[in-house]
Amino acid sequence: MATLRRYRESDWESFVALDIETGLATLRFAPDEDRQRFRERWPAVLKSRYVWTDEGPTANKAVLYVLEDDEGLYAGHLWLTEQEDLRTGIPRLWVNTMAIAKQYRSRGWGRLLVEKAEEVARERGLRSIGLGVDADNVVARKLYEEMGFETVRLRMIRNL
Ligand SMILES: CC(C)(COP(=O)(O)OP(=O)(O)OC[C@H]1O[C@@H](n2cnc3c(N)ncnc32)[C@H](O)[C@@H]1OP(=O)(O)O)[C@@H](O)C(=O)NCCC(=O)NCCS
Repeated sequence: MATLRRYRESDWESFVALDIETGLATLRFAPDEDRQRFRERWPAVLKSRYVWTDEGPTANKAVLYVLEDDEGLYAGHLWLTEQEDLRTGIPRLWVNTMAIAKQYRSRGWGRLLVEKAEEVARERGLRSIGLGVDADNVVARKLYEEMGFETVRLRMIRNL
């Protein structure tokens, strides 16, 4: 059984470790020095850019949920914010990031996080949920597609 609760100050180390692991997956083809740079700077970036407090990030109407296993161990997280549609100004719920720690994957807990996002969006009266995902993250893309997400915009990068 998994339980979702709000982030608290004592979660910081577990949050950062799993978030860095998620970021390193995105950077897996980057040079070692870039990956090291990310590891070193990310905790400070989280604190400043996302206006981190003891209750977690506060920028952009954020709420951070932590998923615990039966024994209260950190199993994953879901970081929600709001983003206005640039053209219409209509806010949508934005999944800043979500992750399930490796040893807890494939138990339906990732799906649980997406369902929580949907619940929060409805509670806030928001009409849509958005997120960004790496093009080659087939597991996450499959989960999102199964839960009704559609690809509406692609970001392209050319390395020089
Ligand atoms: C993406 C992630 C959250 C999924 O969590 P999870 O708890 O393993 O997922 P679930 O057990 O709820 O599975 C939900 C769906 O994901 C997909 N999925 C899960 N494991 C999969 C695998 N090994 N291969 C392919 N698809 C898989 C399936 O569509 C699955 O639905 P199904 O069981 O009906 O087939 C998890 O893999 C993770 O934390 N990955 C690293 C961080 C990350 O990529 N986060 C997303 C960034 S946007």
